[in-house]
Amino acid sequence: MSTLFTPLSLREITLRNRLWVSPMCQYSAVDGVPQEWHHTHLAQFASGGAGLVVAEATAVSPEGRISPEDTGLWNDGQRDAWKPIVAAMRARGAVAAVQLAHAGRKASTWSPFSGRRGTVAETEGGWQTVAPSAVAFDGFADPVALDAAGIDRVVADFAAAAQRAVEAGFEVLEIHAAHGYLLHQFLSPLSNLRDDEYGGSLENRARLLLRVIDAVTDASPAVPLMVRLSATDWADGGWDADQTATVARWAAERGADFFDISSGGLVAHQRITTGPGYQVHLAAHVRRAAGVPVSAVGMIDDAAHAERILSSGEADAVMAGREWLRDPHFALRAAAELGADIDYWPKQYLRARR
Ligand SMILES: Cc1cc2nc3c(=O)[nH]c(=O)nc-3n(C[C@H](O)[C@H](O)[C@H](O)COP(=O)(O)O)c2cc1C
Repeated sequence: MSTLFTPLSLREITLRNRLWVSPMCQYSAVDGVPQEWHHTHLAQFASGGAGLVVAEATAVSPEGRISPEDTGLWNDGQRDAWKPIVAAMRARGAVAAVQLAHAGRKASTWSPFSGRRGTVAETEGGWQTVAPSAVAFDGFADPVALDAAGIDRVVADFAAAAQRAVEAGFEVLEIHAAHGYLLHQFLSPLSNLRDDEYGGSLENRARLLLRVIDAVTDASPAVPLMVRLSATDWADGGWDADQTATVARWAAERGADFFDISSGGLVAHQRITTGPGYQVHLAAHVRRAAGVPVSAVGMIDDAAHAERILSSGEADAVMAGREWLRDPHFALRAAAELGADIDYWPKQYLRARR
């Protein structure tokens, strides 16, 4: 009996298995509008047996984009362009989710394959970035510290984007509070130097994330809500696993259903040692300390490894990124390797089934 291929429920939504597609920016949108590439890219994972497909970090406002080529949900045209993409994922049996994001001080950067690095200047299509404090990420342009009205606007933008996501057909929402982007910048004492009610104590640093959770759950009360958190900054004096567990518990009390545990991204001087499953212990810590359901992610590239993580109680689901890019049918292969009897092998491909 495979735990990886046992369904999991989030509120009223049932996911056919626990092997999920982690959000992955494609840097291929035009004015925030997803393109044909996104359609094929995301639909193939659903054909490949994924239980949940989380569409890439999708900006809640133009200034929240990591790069000018990010997808968005700040207008209705973007919402309408997502509709057939979401329908394609759902028609293939996956649950479709989207990661709602604001990049804060790490916005307005060149995409990885542009051949350039760092901040895109305003003269080249970039924009002024915002952050909790006017402290730059190493090598990037200086952000402007958000004032009270700016913070209220961020909260409202998350709520409006959540509403559009639901209208587009997404069945699960994920708030991006990891990888050194805006909400993580508020959480971490290394990037949040504020002395108002959004800085200082853990309660204050978590205030923006909790407001965003409240606003998103108000805008879409029935929709399961996931939160991606970096569980450590991998840097002295930074955000850590205990703070993550405390904030995850608070978030769960406010209505968040599931926690996607990643790490890092806040500062350039982070010291990470990567290897197979290098973030699993962080997910296990949050699961144990906060008593919330979690997914583990990070170099979990084979079925037996994923199965062990679940059967040992370290996580409730496994997310993978790059392995799905190598093999968009990762879940079909994993099911075969684990001897799991699944009924969603595409009928068009049955002749290839082992
Ligand atoms: C091409 C690419 C784009 C990514 N974009 C995002 C993103 O939009 N949001 C996010 O939270 N993580 C993003 N990530 C991180 C992945 O979701 C994942 O956490 C990471 O790659 C580790 O998992 P893996 O070893 O299975 O790839 C991206 C990773 C890759 C390779």
